[in-house]
Amino acid sequence: MLSERMLKGLNEQVTKELFSAYFYLGIAAYFRDSGFEGFSTWMEAQAEEELGHAIRIYDYVFERGGKVELYKIEMPKQEFESPLKAFEAVYLHEVGVTESIYKLVEIAQEEKDHATYQFLQWFVEEQVEEEATAKAVVDKLKIIGDHPQGLFMLDRELGTRVPRLRGLLIQTKE
Ligand code: FEO
Repeated sequence: MLSERMLKGLNEQVTKELFSAYFYLGIAAYFRDSGFEGFSTWMEAQAEEELGHAIRIYDYVFERGGKVELYKIEMPKQEFESPLKAFEAVYLHEVGVTESIYKLVEIAQEEKDHATYQFLQWFVEEQVEEEATAKAVVDKLKIIGDHPQGLFMLDRELGTRVPRLRGLLIQTKE
């Protein structure tokens, strides 16, 4: 059984992950509107991944006999000065999510909830990857600066990541 404190923390994290999906979709829309189709596709794929994170915790709460509570989601930022600023926002967002996951790990330790501690390890590892991926793109964008050719090539590279839901939509249209 989950302690009240653990349950609240997990439920809050479900909303944070749902906000993350919304956050990425806001940036996807910005990029699509700005003609960066590849960056937009990457952000869409990320939005889907965040939904997956939310569902993973949602399922876990049920599995442990807890009651899922969903909270209000704030409006995401949808305008950015440049691709670099947008990816910097992604990196900072992921650093914040890591902090939030670490707090949950600390609660699990304090509550001696070994199962939740174990469950959260997947997220701890995932955050290492999320931060590293965002940081790598930020670094590349800093090198590219305002060079259109570099931006074009990076946009194309990041566009190779296919969002699964969009893939399904394309299949059903064919
Ligand atoms: Fe679900 Fe990007 O952290």
